[in-house]
Amino acid sequence: MCGIVGFIGAEEAAPILLDGLSRLEYRGYDSAGVAVYGEGCGLQVVKAKGRLKVLEELTQNGRALHGAAGVGHTRWATHGEPSDVNSHPQVSADGRFAVVHNGIIENYVEIKEFLQSKGVEFVSQTDTEVVAQLLEYYYKGGLLEAVGKTLERLRGAYALGILCADHPDMLIAVRQDSPLIVGRGEGFQMLASDVTAVIKYTREVSYLDDGEIAILTRDGVEVMDRYHQRVDKPVSHVDWEISAAEKGGYEHFMAKEIMEQPQAVRKTISTRIREGRVVMEGMEFSPAYLRDMDKLYIIACGSSYHVGMVAKYVLEKLLRKPVEVTLASEFRYCDPIVTKNTLALVISQSGETIDTLAAMREAKRLGARVLAIVNVVGSTIAREADGVLYTWAGPEIAVATTKAYSTQLAVVYLLGLSFAQTMGTVSEEEGAALAEALLALPGKLEEVLERRQDVQYFASLCFNHPSIFFIGRNLDYAVGLEGSLKLKEISYIHSEAYAAGELKHGTISLIEPGTLVVALASYSPLFEKLMSNVVEVKSRGARVLGLTTADLAEEMGKTADYVIAVPRTHPLLQPSLDVVPLQLFAYYVALQRGCDIDKPRNLAKSVTVE
Ligand code: F6R
Repeated sequence: MCGIVGFIGAEEAAPILLDGLSRLEYRGYDSAGVAVYGEGCGLQVVKAKGRLKVLEELTQNGRALHGAAGVGHTRWATHGEPSDVNSHPQVSADGRFAVVHNGIIENYVEIKEFLQSKGVEFVSQTDTEVVAQLLEYYYKGGLLEAVGKTLERLRGAYALGILCADHPDMLIAVRQDSPLIVGRGEGFQMLASDVTAVIKYTREVSYLDDGEIAILTRDGVEVMDRYHQRVDKPVSHVDWEISAAEKGGYEHFMAKEIMEQPQAVRKTISTRIREGRVVMEGMEFSPAYLRDMDKLYIIACGSSYHVGMVAKYVLEKLLRKPVEVTLASEFRYCDPIVTKNTLALVISQSGETIDTLAAMREAKRLGARVLAIVNVVGSTIAREADGVLYTWAGPEIAVATTKAYSTQLAVVYLLGLSFAQTMGTVSEEEGAALAEALLALPGKLEEVLERRQDVQYFASLCFNHPSIFFIGRNLDYAVGLEGSLKLKEISYIHSEAYAAGELKHGTISLIEPGTLVVALASYSPLFEKLMSNVVEVKSRGARVLGLTTADLAEEMGKTADYVIAVPRTHPLLQPSLDVVPLQLFAYYVALQRGCDIDKPRNLAKSVTVE
């Protein structure tokens, strides 16, 4: 949600800020703005509703603004509609302070009323404007004093970038519950919501922690904690290539990321299996701990939650321990039953989703041990969990996740196998067979992708359906949830995913002649049961697109109108292959409908507000 960037150095800041914003646009894209300070030009602020390209045009790609210090913002509106005036930077009434913000100032109404009672006039509906106006209110010539007093009054989540016209030789960065990093260069420093914005300029970054304030000058960065004590921040080296965050010839990031899945899954799995056994870095769970574990609590949002739904079936089968999957946004407020023997498994691509982070903190507070599955190295969840298993998907830019989902699933399988081998709940042979099947997954994913034209063809037949149902049982149901989410988020077609046996308890009333039903039937033990449900919807006139394994395709084709077949793998791993045609289906349907695939309406990647 919202991307912020800042630069201070010797070069013109605006083109660098715009370049940084172009890499953060996936975090929010309803408006954008920059503020730059230049000798003789003062504080120049340009901001506009719409995509970043509007701002690029207004500023001639930044060439119209002069100065070597500035901040920029790309917005996902929370308070106040997308509009020029609500765009960031928000500027104080005296024009001295420019502020960019990611997060929510929860007590902004109270602060606004206080300032209004002192005669301050507000121009926007944003919560952020109170920060700029408070800075002005407290400013008596000392920038850090004004920042300190302002922060004392703020409640909520915020990452802030602050530029003051009286102190153009410094930028202030503040972090509280919203991600913020500092990029360290030779003769310049940067701040940003994530490393993608700075990596073209520097690979040396520091991750700010909650309550920290960074003072960036051209020559260095000083970091203080909330008590104004100096903090020695470690500097981490980012080792991925910038090309990983570029389209590389594909029309959309989503297409590129779908196609990258074999290699991402290979990278995630291959180094972690040795001689049929799983070796997970940084993870020690003794047989005694696992024996005494009373419950595995999976906590996540969105697609990561859908991985959790697959995980429940897989882990319960492998470990014979109860697994509860819960939406992070619900976990915090449901008085969860957690003991010191509960293992909380937190799943998050970004490692910054605020609901997941807050739920993780709550699980820890209640005594659970926390293991996180995360893609972004150095993210808050990765740093705060007791243990972290990284998915090696590389940067995921498309808002709709694909390769992160697939690598999360791969880590779940590795984790399940590792625990099962430690607990002895699988035999040597069963364990070895699962390990072998895991190592073969990337090759099978390649086979699925080679058949993508089949899916494109079906998408061309179905893209005008007003409503699409996904049905499945057991693992197929869990995959259907993800297929349905992918479709609705990027194609805007209404869709529902149902446990196939549940349909007749209400929702079947929505099936009418011509309704499209995607029936997932790869979980072979329940193939016949699922086919009965297919017959039920066919009897009511539904058009059925079946998804099953190659060996069952002919049988399914006797009832379904069309069938997409995927290779067969170990039954527990089948979701890894099944999800790919569903991702492709959503992609091609959205393409046919002319949707903005990488930046779907109303959405943003990395959801850092509650
Ligand atoms: C859907 C999607 C979202 C995320 C969700 C959680 O395509 O990407 O549903 O899965 O916002 O995000 P993370 O995994 O970053 O916590």
